[in-house]
Amino acid sequence: MNTYDIARIASPIGAELRERWWDLMPEDLARKHRPWVKRIGGGLITFLSGTTSKSMNVVLNLGVSETAKKSMIDEVFELAATARAQRFSFHVSPSAQSSRIEKWLIEKNFRLHNYYRIHFRDTTGSVKIETDLTVKKINKEHAIAFGRIVCENFGWPAGRVPWIAATVGQRGFHHYMAFAEEVPVATGLLYVKDDCGYLAFGATMSRYRRRGGQGALIAARIKKARQLGLRFVTADTFAPMPGRPAVSYRNFSRTGFEDAYQQPVFVWEK
Ligand SMILES: CC(C)(COP(=O)(O)OP(=O)(O)OC[C@H]1O[C@@H](n2cnc3c(N)ncnc32)[C@H](O)[C@@H]1OP(=O)(O)O)[C@@H](O)C(=O)NCCC(=O)NCCS
Repeated sequence: MNTYDIARIASPIGAELRERWWDLMPEDLARKHRPWVKRIGGGLITFLSGTTSKSMNVVLNLGVSETAKKSMIDEVFELAATARAQRFSFHVSPSAQSSRIEKWLIEKNFRLHNYYRIHFRDTTGSVKIETDLTVKKINKEHAIAFGRIVCENFGWPAGRVPWIAATVGQRGFHHYMAFAEEVPVATGLLYVKDDCGYLAFGATMSRYRRRGGQGALIAARIKKARQLGLRFVTADTFAPMPGRPAVSYRNFSRTGFEDAYQQPVFVWEK
């Protein structure tokens, strides 16, 4: 498989997960933030009105499954103006058009901010990670704890806890947690689209890190993906760079993922 083949499988999953997650935003949060979700040219745009968050104000996937046009960048700006977005990020997935899209972004005063690494593997073969924590698939009983661990460790506002919790029990979402005795300490989501699973929401409470929690949660989700009959699993992390921890990056390498490609992230700021 070449990079474009992998990107055609891996890129749409994160976008679909995001779209479904945004659909589940609780009413009080939606009233406060007035979310915008739009599909343009096979790409997905999400904005939260009045935030400068690069992880919420995002454009994903343009040009991967459909032909992108320069005018679509203008459409993104129209939506950004309507949503009063002061800052947003634009992730460029590999495609026959990606260098053209990057040129359009530079012309529109985006600057290259960083890179994500996309990890990819098949689901054959079991992965063994030693840990003294217990990994379990969870249900609604632990949904709020799941949301709390993600928000606390991603540095997200606590107001997003019920939003993350709302994904528990939804079709295609499989949530796992690691427990120290009975205490929930780490999280991981497997999201399923077609024959590929996407691993997201990996977080471990700082007191419980370096005990194999994330590694074991990755292994459990690969196993689940195999049991569900999926062929592939994918995940993304920040690219390793000096001064930034690359713990997740190493955990995906350790559990048999190939570092398949990088995804440049461009940022536009008013
Ligand atoms: C990234 C994160 C999830 C890692 O969680 P974790 O549970 O500490 O991960 P693990 O314990 O599986 O692995 C971490 C390290 O501990 C080591 N380790 C695992 N078990 C161990 C044990 N019993 N004793 C000592 N070290 C151990 C691993 O080999 C790994 O080492 P390395 O950093 O040298 O490669 C956690 O640091 C975190 O929540 N960070 C903030 C949120 C974030 O960045 N999430 C990732 C989004 S992609």
